[in-house]
Amino acid sequence: MQKFDVIVIGSGPGGYVTAIRASQLGKTTAIIEKYPVLGGTCLNVGCIPSKALLDSSEKYHEAKTKFSKHGINTTGLTLDWAKMLSRKDRVIATNNSGIDYLMKKNKVAVFKGAASFISKNQIKIKGSKDDTIITGKNIIIATGSKPSSIKGVTLDKKRIITSTEALSLKKMPKELLVIGGGVIGLELGSVYARLGVKVKVIEFFDRILANFDTSISKEMTSSLKKLGIEFYLSHKVLSANPIVNKKSDKVEVVALDAHDKKITFLADYCLVAVGRKANTSGLDLDKVGIETNPQGFIKVDKSLKTSIDGVFAIGDVIGGVMLAHKAEEEGVYVMERLVGQLPHINYELIPNVVYTWPEVASIGLTEKQCLDQGLSIKVGNFPFSALGRARASDDIEGFVKMIADAKSDEVLGVHIVGARASDLIMEVAVAMEYKASAEDIARTCHAHPTFSEAIKEAALATWNNQPLHL
Ligand code: FAD
Ligand code: NAI
Repeated sequence: MQKFDVIVIGSGPGGYVTAIRASQLGKTTAIIEKYPVLGGTCLNVGCIPSKALLDSSEKYHEAKTKFSKHGINTTGLTLDWAKMLSRKDRVIATNNSGIDYLMKKNKVAVFKGAASFISKNQIKIKGSKDDTIITGKNIIIATGSKPSSIKGVTLDKKRIITSTEALSLKKMPKELLVIGGGVIGLELGSVYARLGVKVKVIEFFDRILANFDTSISKEMTSSLKKLGIEFYLSHKVLSANPIVNKKSDKVEVVALDAHDKKITFLADYCLVAVGRKANTSGLDLDKVGIETNPQGFIKVDKSLKTSIDGVFAIGDVIGGVMLAHKAEEEGVYVMERLVGQLPHINYELIPNVVYTWPEVASIGLTEKQCLDQGLSIKVGNFPFSALGRARASDDIEGFVKMIADAKSDEVLGVHIVGARASDLIMEVAVAMEYKASAEDIARTCHAHPTFSEAIKEAALATWNNQPLHL
């Protein structure tokens, strides 16, 4: 029986990064993945394929709607959906090989097959012929999450689909219904809307991106409406049913609107994007007494240890924000603590990005959270429309909103809608990690002409209400 210091179950961003760090810290390490390829949800059916399609569809949409303004003639522009999908698949495959290489380079033993606990140190790996048993001093569970659904909606994965199917639809639909105006709904809804599909989003709350600052929900609603997406807010979905007959192959969704009136929607597909649940099936957690909470997430303490000594859990399977970079941080944290280092994770400062166009990026507290906590705050805004660089590239939608403590001037939250928001947010992430004030950011020299000047201007607006270009 092979013995390891560390066994990691699951090869998503949480799992494979844990394995790399374990090996860097001198541990003999194994990683187990039940799918034929490494990379987990993020690489195979999540972050990377969705961004590949978002980038391709944005290029098409820009060519169709914006290029002529730049003097570029695109007469005869056509869309090859099959090619777009195969490019996305190639991007995934390149990254799959990248992880294979990293495992080899770091001498991580890779096992393919579903893992389950025999004891707190012994793991069984189901093989196509025989099972293998390996032992580890420490086990790290990084088995991630899977799509969840709601009452009255059964995911048949043919007409009533999850993000996984939506990333590989063979034929371009005419109409797509999306249940859930959260991150997946808006990102994948954008992909199809840009390619000419009629997209309707049904959302339970009275605003999309309900976890974000309300200013973001407002701006994105208006921006995505311009793209042609229709929003049905404050609508409670009651049922979704495929209607398959000789004449049509559609799906019918019934929802209650804010006045309790039943509304019926008909479309080619219904994408259900109402959140994700922990993936613990087949692990036999109860055999060793690893506890889960009522929502099914694995219970962990501050050191991310499960209810059993020596067994840790990280990433989506423990809940919290379900983001790849959060899973990675947790993997590194667990391994560094195991060798006696003193790492920390600042859960208050995990950047949250939505890769729509314009992009959304957010960090720290929203205005409402500040007010709910009784904090005395000041708020500064700067619109991209006032920025030279944004005008040059014709990306004038959006703003930077900065919130700081009214007395100390410490930055408490930053919320961006706009071009390159996903990269801009990192400047404030570093600044906030070092407890910077709005004045600190405002007095930092920013290159001209760049989008980052919107951050400086918002900081000026927050610090002394004197932005230079507004
Ligand atoms: P996962 O990536 O889910 O990996 C878990 C792995 O464990 C899987 O490969 C699974 O097969 C394996 N596994 C499960 N059970 C077993 C078992 N018993 N034995 C062996 N292996 C097992 N996050 C971002 O930060 N940015 C984004 O842009 C982004 N986009 C997304 C887009 C979509 C469409 C989706 C669905 C998610 C997106 N996410 C994004 C979220 C991100 O994918 C997750 O937060 C991240 O993958 C979590 O990493 P993880 O390592 O915890 O789990
Ligand atoms: P989400 O939590 O972002 O959004 C779900 C939405 O569905 C919410 O707005 C919710 O109010 C709505 N909803 C719930 N029940 C409903 C009902 N009965 N009827 C109508 N609407 C209903 O979850 P989503 O979009 O499924 O994404 C799952 C996870 O994947 C998220 O936690 C996210 O962090 C991660 N992800 C991250 C991305 C990124 O970082 N860019 C991209 C895609 C996913």
